Amino acid sequence: MNATIRAAAALLLTLLLAACSGDEPPAPLTAGPEHRVGTGSDPHSFAEYEKVRIRHLSLDLDADMSARILTGHVVLELDRVEPGFQRLVLDSRDLNIRDVNAIRPDGEYLPVSWRFGADHGHLGRPLVIVLPAGIEQLRIDYTTSPEAFGLQWLDGEQTSSGRPFMFSQSQPHYARTWVPLQDTPAVRYTFDATVRGPRELMVVMGAAGNEFERNDTGEYRFEMPEPIPSYLMAIAIGDLVFAETGPRTGIYAEPPWIEAAAGEFDVLEEMVEIGENLYGEYRWGRYDLLVLPPSFPFGGMENPRLSYITPTIIAGDGSLLALVAHELAHSWSGNLVTNAAWRDLWLNEGFTVHFEARIMEELYGQEVRDQLAKLSWDGLMDTLDAIDARDRQLVRDLSDRDPEQAFMRVPYDMGRFFIDWIEHRVGRDVFDEFLRGYFDHFAFQSITSEDFRAYLEQHLVVPNRGRLTMAEVDQWLYEPGMPEIAFEIRPESDAFVAVDDWRERWQSGEVDLDDLPADAWSVYQWLHFLSGLEGRLDAETMEAMDERFDLVAQQNHEILFLWLLRSIEAEYAPGIERLETFLLEVGRNKFTRPLYAALAESAWGRDWGIEVYERARPGYHPLTRQASERALGL
Ligand code: BES
Ligand code: ZN
Repeated sequence: MNATIRAAAALLLTLLLAACSGDEPPAPLTAGPEHRVGTGSDPHSFAEYEKVRIRHLSLDLDADMSARILTGHVVLELDRVEPGFQRLVLDSRDLNIRDVNAIRPDGEYLPVSWRFGADHGHLGRPLVIVLPAGIEQLRIDYTTSPEAFGLQWLDGEQTSSGRPFMFSQSQPHYARTWVPLQDTPAVRYTFDATVRGPRELMVVMGAAGNEFERNDTGEYRFEMPEPIPSYLMAIAIGDLVFAETGPRTGIYAEPPWIEAAAGEFDVLEEMVEIGENLYGEYRWGRYDLLVLPPSFPFGGMENPRLSYITPTIIAGDGSLLALVAHELAHSWSGNLVTNAAWRDLWLNEGFTVHFEARIMEELYGQEVRDQLAKLSWDGLMDTLDAIDARDRQLVRDLSDRDPEQAFMRVPYDMGRFFIDWIEHRVGRDVFDEFLRGYFDHFAFQSITSEDFRAYLEQHLVVPNRGRLTMAEVDQWLYEPGMPEIAFEIRPESDAFVAVDDWRERWQSGEVDLDDLPADAWSVYQWLHFLSGLEGRLDAETMEAMDERFDLVAQQNHEILFLWLLRSIEAEYAPGIERLETFLLEVGRNKFTRPLYAALAESAWGRDWGIEVYERARPGYHPLTRQASERALGL
């Protein structure tokens, strides 16, 4: 049977089935939902989730590490919110769909008609499927593309173990590049999965069921009993070993990383306990970390039960653990209570940065909290100066933009200071109690900024009349920039004031490099020192600083990054040499994007940067390629 005849037969069958059940014939396949783009409640998904929703999905996939594809099928279990509605629209991008079948209640397969809608670039293509009456299960057989944006595949030569590696990054809207589904944070579902990979590798997922040792079969089974949004779907395959850090926490990494990682992250169990004491029960069973290759485009990703972490925070002294606190905090803010669309991202990230600070304060005290807060405040102020008014708002209209654009400092740091400010106005005890109620009330739901606003009014603003007003709240939510009242909580750090003083005296020639008491400085003081340096440093000054502090050999990637940025400005040869190896190894966008952008500012820098980029590109994640190319103007 050729494809046309098969499709015609399928359509006929569906029509017959509909006729037998006495329902309306299915909505015509030609009337697509494309018009919804930009007008629906989540403008970044084609899914008509107010009509029919995924309740559960079962994945069955084989990973081919050399062809760089996942192949298999997904069974979707549906909630027919509007039972007569006879169309299912899924999000998809670069997927090769092989077959779509409805599964009847008696288990019989029924081929159904489907088609792709128009290509919408980064949003992909709607996959429009006829949904016969009475059907609640669909099976889709498919294969991913080697270019799938949400997956990175590395060969043995590109990893530290010498074996291939693959990992997913689904947030914000890349799950659709490896599973056909309703790719919107508004829809939550449970899932189970069976995944087969090469026997010498181990498969892990952001789910229950991760094994502690590689098995002999290459087949791994997982289950996610709590409903999650699609952006939290996560899979990884590699030469992984496990190290325990406590009864319900541990680290997965390639063998060369495991010892350093387990040492660096040994506070993990304690962090989970701190989180529970603050915000109520940890509801996800285990909490493990997966240390990824340095090409991972982010610092961390809060995949439930198994957060993904860049190895660039392994500094040897635990100084960059705020990032782990951050991903863990998402187990409440984000994973438990989720933003309904990317316009509400601050509900995820702002809350999380606030919690991250609380966890760090519990672990290391007020002084560390203040230093981190000051870094966050200063960074935010610089950003606000540099961006358009429409991006200075917490709640933003992103309907005509790539959801990638949501991830700027504003939802993170301005969101965090908004939460800090509420706490400041009502007091910590009142606020903590409110938060526990809030997480309980909205647990496993996806909410909008307006849902939060209404809950806040009823449960905090009204009962604490006189402490804060809704007009003030709305200023934070809907007015561009930091409101005046933000200055009530402007962070201060004596340790930073001292650094400012030394920096000024050194830069004005009053004291020598040798006089700086920098050996006693915290990593955060160092970051503050370097980011506050006035003007351009020349190569000679940089050399003197390296002689004294050996910054070019820094193990701490945050400090090293600032030093490499300065090296570009100063055309400082030892720094440029280190920059080359850095760019060839690290694909974390927070570092690579600004470095390429700084290179692009001069003619020599751009030529040199392009040459390095071409060599680094095969090892970069699709997101890092995209951002680097933009930064270099390619
Ligand atoms: N959810 C984000 C990761 C992310 C960012 C995914 C942008 C998709 C787009 C994660 O929780 C996060 O915020 N990571 C930060 C670290 C944090 C300490 C600010 C990062 O990766 O830098
Ligand atoms: Zn986050």
